[in-house]
Amino acid sequence: MNTNKLESLWKVGKDFLGVDYPIMGGAMSWISESNLVAAVSNAGAFGVIASGSMDAPLLKDMIIKTKAKTNKPFGVNLIVMNPHLDSLVDVCIEEKTTHVIFAGGFPSVDVITKLKDKNIKTLGFAPNASLGKRLVRNGIDALIIEGSEAGGHIGPVSTSVLVQEVLPTIKEVPVFVAGGIGRGEVLANYLELGAAGVQIGTSLVCATECIAHDNFKQSFIKASARDAQSTQQVDNDFPVIPVRAIVNKGSKDFLDFQKSVIADYKSGSLTKYDAQMKIEHYWVGALRRAVVDGDVENGSLMAGQSVGMVNAVRPSAEIIAELIAQATEYLNK
Ligand SMILES: Cc1cc2nc3c(=O)[nH]c(=O)nc-3n(C[C@H](O)[C@H](O)[C@H](O)COP(=O)(O)O)c2cc1C
Repeated sequence: MNTNKLESLWKVGKDFLGVDYPIMGGAMSWISESNLVAAVSNAGAFGVIASGSMDAPLLKDMIIKTKAKTNKPFGVNLIVMNPHLDSLVDVCIEEKTTHVIFAGGFPSVDVITKLKDKNIKTLGFAPNASLGKRLVRNGIDALIIEGSEAGGHIGPVSTSVLVQEVLPTIKEVPVFVAGGIGRGEVLANYLELGAAGVQIGTSLVCATECIAHDNFKQSFIKASARDAQSTQQVDNDFPVIPVRAIVNKGSKDFLDFQKSVIADYKSGSLTKYDAQMKIEHYWVGALRRAVVDGDVENGSLMAGQSVGMVNAVRPSAEIIAELIAQATEYLNK
């Protein structure tokens, strides 16, 4: 297999991540723990620990466990609004993490600078070109653009549009593309358009090494692209954070739940604030319920539209190797 074209297209991404294949295994809460992260990195790609709502001791323990399973590079995903952010940053420094990926908001210049001063590379999500440029001005070392096809929390814009908006305009730092990547041909396309590499999530959920409950994996295997839908909001006055997940009883019940809470507000038995809080709390713990407990009826089955291409439980190395083979064949046509 002649991989010369691929090698030259993704050289920047390879060098930036320090890996053979600049395919990031995007952080997935409860899923991207030491087993999956190490397996992805051992396969030559780049695993990322999801710190979610962890505190510093939990993250430290997770980094140590991951290091015990791989000596290859891996990253740590930090949620900017986590109240423990400062101590999580300190743990990344203590543990000599090589790359920190910020999600769920904009990291401050101080936090970026603190990590960079310790030679830790920083990555952040750019929801559009102008915010991407702002992150670059703030010192971020690389960007991820993630389209609305992705699983989990999503923005409103598709990958195909973000790619056109951001890749031609931001050349100062490597840009990784995420959202809806299920095959190597599209990976190769994004590289040809200027991406440094890609990030995948949904495609790795059914990895053999992934500790997600078998019920969760089977839901992925059964689902088609159209089953992975964004959460619906019933009233503009009560915003709902969009999350893409496989439709189940929990997501259907959520609509009735919103309606009944809003009715309580309108009848005066709930304040607007309490009604909004009730709606926001509906999904608290829901991903854990599905991933860890296997409650695929009521838990959250976060998944991207590429879930339709997930057909079997198989090793991470096989998933990565298949993407590379498809990309190589496409580029050599
Ligand atoms: C079950 C699930 C949980 C996720 N949790 C997180 C998370 O905790 N932090 C984060 O930055 N992204 C999270 N994501 C997004 C992934 O890191 C990744 O960017 C996304 O899955 C890529 O799109 P794809 O699903 O189409 O491959 C999650 C995605 C899924 C499917």
